[in-house]
Amino acid sequence: MRLKGKTALVTGGASGFGAGIVQAYAREGARVVVLDLNGEGAARVAAEAGNGALAVAGDVTRQADIEAAVGKAVDAGGRLDIVVNNAGWTFRNKPMLEVTEAEFDKVFAINVKSIYLMTNAVVPIMRRQKEGRIINIGSTAGSRPRPGLTWYNATKGAVNLLSKSMAVELAPDGIRVNCVAPVIGETALLESFMGVPDTPENRAKFVGTIPLGRMSKPSDIANACVYLGSDEAEFLTGVVLPVDGGRTV
Ligand SMILES: NC(=O)c1ccc[n+]([C@@H]2O[C@H](COP(=O)([O-])OP(=O)(O)OC[C@H]3O[C@@H](n4cnc5c(N)ncnc54)[C@H](O)[C@@H]3O)[C@@H](O)[C@H]2O)c1
Repeated sequence: MRLKGKTALVTGGASGFGAGIVQAYAREGARVVVLDLNGEGAARVAAEAGNGALAVAGDVTRQADIEAAVGKAVDAGGRLDIVVNNAGWTFRNKPMLEVTEAEFDKVFAINVKSIYLMTNAVVPIMRRQKEGRIINIGSTAGSRPRPGLTWYNATKGAVNLLSKSMAVELAPDGIRVNCVAPVIGETALLESFMGVPDTPENRAKFVGTIPLGRMSKPSDIANACVYLGSDEAEFLTGVVLPVDGGRTV
């Protein structure tokens, strides 16, 4: 077991990549707290994952909800070893001039401000421990943008970059910060990213740009998060790891 005895907090763990991360973390011996707006989904995923996993219904854009989840994780494990900032959202793929101000604010709040809030909540704890691991879910969209997602792409450019900046600033505290950058994947957000119905023909257009010939799956992202959260990655920080079947080569 590669995460035995660790306590982890995973945001957006009720579905998609996050659910895969929760399952893999529990399987590798971590005690996981799942924070998601979808409390029912989070509870289901936590129950399926086992190993004492707990669910918290909450919004990553609200400091109080983040603090409640962090408190639950610390109460459960006596410490907080790993945080995976995975919760994310996008407006549907469309021309940039059609994105409303409300959508702009929402995508930056969920994808970027959430990491600011989580950082404020967990860094003091990790500093006291003199150890911690933070993994942010960025995207290939932050380095190889596709049209129709400009403001979403901007949030992921921010996540990819802030991960490196956090890494250098927090290294003296023994806190490692890394980023996983998935290519388009089979999750609830797929149709929003594509901006067209989820049909085999439409999928084929996206898959055609991925050298390994398929979309990403939750298990691909989860495996990368297990590695980066484990002791095996003790000398890695500030890495933006594409999990993309070669898309960004
Ligand atoms: N699916 C892709 O193609 C893809 C590619 C690259 C990166 N990503 C990123 O992966 C991450 C996970 O997305 P996914 O594709 O698994 O989508 P998903 O919709 O299946 O999962 C996202 C989860 O985040 C939760 N969430 C949304 N807003 C929240 C909030 N304010 N507070 C708490 N929880 C909230 C949702 O309830 C959901 O459970 C996101 O950061 C996304 O941007 C996805």
